[in-house]
Amino acid sequence: MATVLLIGASRGIGLELARQYREDGWRVIATARNSDGLERLKGLGCETLRVDVTDPASNSGLSWQLDGEKLDLAVYVAGVGDRDTAVSPPTREKFDLLMQTNAMGPMMVLPQVAPMLAQSAGTFAVISSHFGSLTLTETSLAVLYRMSKVALNMYIRCAQHDFPEIGCVALHPGWVQTDMGGPQAPVKVQDSAASLRQTLETVRTQRDPKHRGAFLNHDGQPLPW
Ligand SMILES: NC(=O)c1ccc[n+]([C@@H]2O[C@H](COP(=O)([O-])OP(=O)(O)OC[C@H]3O[C@@H](n4cnc5c(N)ncnc54)[C@H](OP(=O)(O)O)[C@@H]3O)[C@@H](O)[C@H]2O)c1
Repeated sequence: MATVLLIGASRGIGLELARQYREDGWRVIATARNSDGLERLKGLGCETLRVDVTDPASNSGLSWQLDGEKLDLAVYVAGVGDRDTAVSPPTREKFDLLMQTNAMGPMMVLPQVAPMLAQSAGTFAVISSHFGSLTLTETSLAVLYRMSKVALNMYIRCAQHDFPEIGCVALHPGWVQTDMGGPQAPVKVQDSAASLRQTLETVRTQRDPKHRGAFLNHDGQPLPW
């Protein structure tokens, strides 16, 4: 039975990934930072860990909570959004929250889980965004969010060099109907998760050099940096 670790799976895309992986017979270890999220995940048959990715003590406790585990896949899903433009300066609090959740969190998680993934030549994936593409940027809407996802993409690109025994990949999930995406989003969360899972399976099992340190759409198509 394959094992996946989902970081930040209390709702939205993470919760749906947990539901689908469980339905498919995977062993799912999923994290949330509050009791409601943990209960939802337990209800799906997941093993759960309480982790707040922005709290260094909580985040860095992952390695001992997972002591002895072998992972096939780890997906960092946690993220926070913001829609402000570049017209006004951000508050320090908002800057820190977005950068810590979206960019620093994965930087703390990957070194802890890489040895567990290395045993199966597994994959570390982050849910990024096409808002993290410099090439595709045509507006300053959500400037801080975009910056955090650019940083995240760069981290994945760099980390692939440091962890050659595993695959590292950044994925855009589409514009998805979740609390973050809103009800007007065109992609249903079930469809995004299914498409992400299919691409992750291709990346994980084919180990194609072109996927190493790559930035991909949920359907596997490469995205421009
Ligand atoms: N929806 C879209 O259209 C879209 C598009 C592009 C990219 N994405 C990316 O996809 C990922 C998932 O987004 P979503 O749409 O599912 O959003 P969502 O429904 O708002 O869910 C966000 C998830 O992140 C978790 N999280 C936030 N801060 C955390 C922290 N400090 N510690 C632990 N968990 C934390 C939340 O947990 P709590 O319940 O505890 O808050 C929740 O489980 C994000 O990285 C987002 O940037 C989404």
